[in-house]
Amino acid sequence: MLLQGKVAIITGAASERGIGRATANTFARHGARVVILDLDESAARDAAAALGEGHLGLAANVADEAQVKAAVAKVIEQYGRIDVLINNAGITQPIKTLDIRPGDYDKVLDVSLRGTLLMSQAVIPIMRTQAAGSIVCMSSVSAQRGGGIFGGPHYSAAKAGVLGLGKAMAREFGADNIRVNSITPGLIHTDITGGLMQDERRHAIIESIPLGRLGAAQDVANAALFLASDLSSYLTGITLDVNGGMLIH
Ligand SMILES: NC(=O)c1ccc[n+]([C@@H]2O[C@H](COP(=O)([O-])OP(=O)(O)OC[C@H]3O[C@@H](n4cnc5c(N)ncnc54)[C@H](O)[C@@H]3O)[C@@H](O)[C@H]2O)c1
Repeated sequence: MLLQGKVAIITGAASERGIGRATANTFARHGARVVILDLDESAARDAAAALGEGHLGLAANVADEAQVKAAVAKVIEQYGRIDVLINNAGITQPIKTLDIRPGDYDKVLDVSLRGTLLMSQAVIPIMRTQAAGSIVCMSSVSAQRGGGIFGGPHYSAAKAGVLGLGKAMAREFGADNIRVNSITPGLIHTDITGGLMQDERRHAIIESIPLGRLGAAQDVANAALFLASDLSSYLTGITLDVNGGMLIH
């Protein structure tokens, strides 16, 4: 029980086969009260109910400041504290540089980058008064290797931005005992990747991964558990690769 009594918000955790949902399950098993925050209210509620008693599902678009503030206020009303924030919500678009329209850019950067900023801004004052907190930001190997698999260049840019933002917040809020770390998943088998890959391409990708398989959402959830819990009490500003060796650097 690594998160006994802790309150953890996980964004983008309604998607059934997603990284956020696997993280929510793992955190609940480790004693956390989990808040699932996603776009659709009933999906978020159902996902929270599936975790068992005492969890909360809320609707919010992480890119909308008013919705983010309202959701965080509800968490405080219900639980009175926030110990962990997992900035997991993200979307991708497999398009090339010359095809990126302003609306595509806005959509992709808004969810990953603006969403990470707005959610962090909403919880940090609370974590500050507690003099404790752990924030985990979901980046991607795409930020480190320049994309090339699913995400377009604007996705790589958003996820690289997340790494920079995470490191800067780690530096700024270390004195408040708020740790901020990022995870860079490789290719993880979820709905984001599921439908997009032909068997042949999938085989070639798997051959290039030293551990010889795609990642599972649980692989990333385990890393999030480590960063959320006191096991990582002296880690802040780090980037934790969960990629099966796809990128070794
Ligand atoms: N699957 C991979 O291979 C992979 C690799 C690297 C990084 N990632 C990152 O991991 C995170 C989770 O990805 P996943 O594969 O589980 O995807 P997923 O599509 O299964 O889940 C994403 C969730 O985010 C939610 N969401 C989207 N926009 C939102 C918004 N504006 N506000 C709130 N919620 C929103 C969706 O409703 C969905 O539940 C994403 O940030 C993704 O970029 C995934």
